[in-house]
Amino acid sequence: MDNYPIVVENFFSEATHDGIKKFVNEIVPLLPTEVDEKDFIREYIHNVPFFVDIHHQLTDFASECFGEQVKPSYCFLSMYKEGGMCPLHIDRPQCRYTIDYLVQTTQSEPWPIKISDILSEEQLDSILEKKLSHPETDEIINMIINHNTWSTINLLRIKLFYTREHILGITGQKL
Ligand SMILES: [Fe+2]
Repeated sequence: MDNYPIVVENFFSEATHDGIKKFVNEIVPLLPTEVDEKDFIREYIHNVPFFVDIHHQLTDFASECFGEQVKPSYCFLSMYKEGGMCPLHIDRPQCRYTIDYLVQTTQSEPWPIKISDILSEEQLDSILEKKLSHPETDEIINMIINHNTWSTINLLRIKLFYTREHILGITGQKL
């Protein structure tokens, strides 16, 4: 449990990756997405069958990676708009482990995601007890930033695996 996050580059073949991109660009716009204009500035959609299929196909690989048998919980497609960001947060309880995959970006530079060191159970409990899994005020956010050690993963067509015992946030927020 102490070597997360794990980064896997070029996980999908070129053809699979292109198929995913094509689906996102040609089919997803026809689907009913929801919009989050407040924090993330993105459109999103849960459990699209195309991605649920891929998610299920990853079960064995994920079990091996995480070192225990896991089952898929849900999948989530997030499409950040101009100015979009991923604010500091801890994933919800179903995400005992999380797999992230960057499908595409309009920028040529990698999109850095900042991930905290693994939290102890006490730290996690304390954050959840204080209802700070999605902190909102600058004061609390800065306190969390200053009290944790962060690593940066430059997302550009990579898969990223991490456990729930991490706080994460992406560019747009100074860490
Ligand atoms: Fe998350």
